[in-house]
Amino acid sequence: MNDPAIRVEELLKRYGDLTAVDGISFAVPVGEIFGFLGPNGAGKTTTISMLATLMRPTRGRAWVAGYDVVKQAAAVRRQIGIVFQDSTLDTKLTAAENLDFHARIYGVSDRKRRVGRMLEAAELTDWADKLADRLSGGMRRRLEVARALLHEPRVLFLDEPTLGLDVQNRRRIWSDLIERAAEKGTTVFITTHQLEDAELCHRVGILDTGRLVACDTPQALKAELGGSRVYLHSRRGDELARAIRSLDGLEPEVDGDEVTVVVDHPGEFLGALLKRVDLPVSDISVREPRLEDVFLSLTGHSLRDSEVPRDGAWRTVHRAAAQRQKRS
Ligand SMILES: Nc1ncnc2c1ncn2[C@@H]1O[C@H](COP(=O)(O)OP(=O)(O)OP(=O)(O)O)[C@@H](O)[C@H]1O
Ligand SMILES: [Mg+2]
Repeated sequence: MNDPAIRVEELLKRYGDLTAVDGISFAVPVGEIFGFLGPNGAGKTTTISMLATLMRPTRGRAWVAGYDVVKQAAAVRRQIGIVFQDSTLDTKLTAAENLDFHARIYGVSDRKRRVGRMLEAAELTDWADKLADRLSGGMRRRLEVARALLHEPRVLFLDEPTLGLDVQNRRRIWSDLIERAAEKGTTVFITTHQLEDAELCHRVGILDTGRLVACDTPQALKAELGGSRVYLHSRRGDELARAIRSLDGLEPEVDGDEVTVVVDHPGEFLGALLKRVDLPVSDISVREPRLEDVFLSLTGHSLRDSEVPRDGAWRTVHRAAAQRQKRS
């Protein structure tokens, strides 16, 4: 089947006057891990809710596993697994009972074996008989992802599954559950506002105030920004910037003591600079563009900024920051 696992056309959702999702379109092929990256309030949960048939779109259409999310909602529900942003575990049941209950609802055959295997995949076998509210936050999250995969859904929706987790738990969720499911052909749609998650996705859609501003592989998104960023600290920043400007028409940005310049070959650049310039430099660092830079250049604000106002004022306030990061 060549049909995409998820197809979205001009999907729009309004809450009263607020347009939470503003006419987005994209498609996710079968087996892909697709990340939906955006800051708080961008419209991630609203999008996932429409795709999982929990909320009706105001306008536009979407298909999941080939079924229309409005007209064939029941069929969609049979094909998907979902992990909500807020936990929905039954805290009065044990880890194993939570899975078993879900398996019964979905009519999973070979229930006992399947529950055992998912406990194992989530590294929770030793905790099977513990009440869910006695598990750590990371364990509970692993249990929820395992539960969503129990009935082998064709499409798995995860709404910020790694939020607040430490590196180890995040890795376990990714390698033991998400990536393993994708290898077996499950399509994964994951929302996040964390760059570490986005880097692990096959493709990333960048959502900002309800609009999809970019959609590509993390590598392609970063490559578009071009070059490495070289940061130099000097108490004579302005003079240093002037000297850099005289080299090959580079365009450094100055912010107090910090001079930033985007170059294709940082080694060559630093060699040439140090040969020609006799100015005090207290610190040098080089880094490749990150998704954070991509986000900033596309939206004018940082992914870490919480609740971006939708009236445009924010863009003005943050224009300076954006320009600093933007290349030329
Ligand atoms: N039921 C609702 N009624 C009214 N407004 C809502 C409702 N749900 C969400 N919103 C608003 O819609 C916008 C998008 O919210 P949504 O929860 O989809 O964002 P999100 O990207 O999931 O954010 P977060 O990262 O905080 O989870 C926000 O401005 C939010 O305040
Ligand atoms: Mg959300």
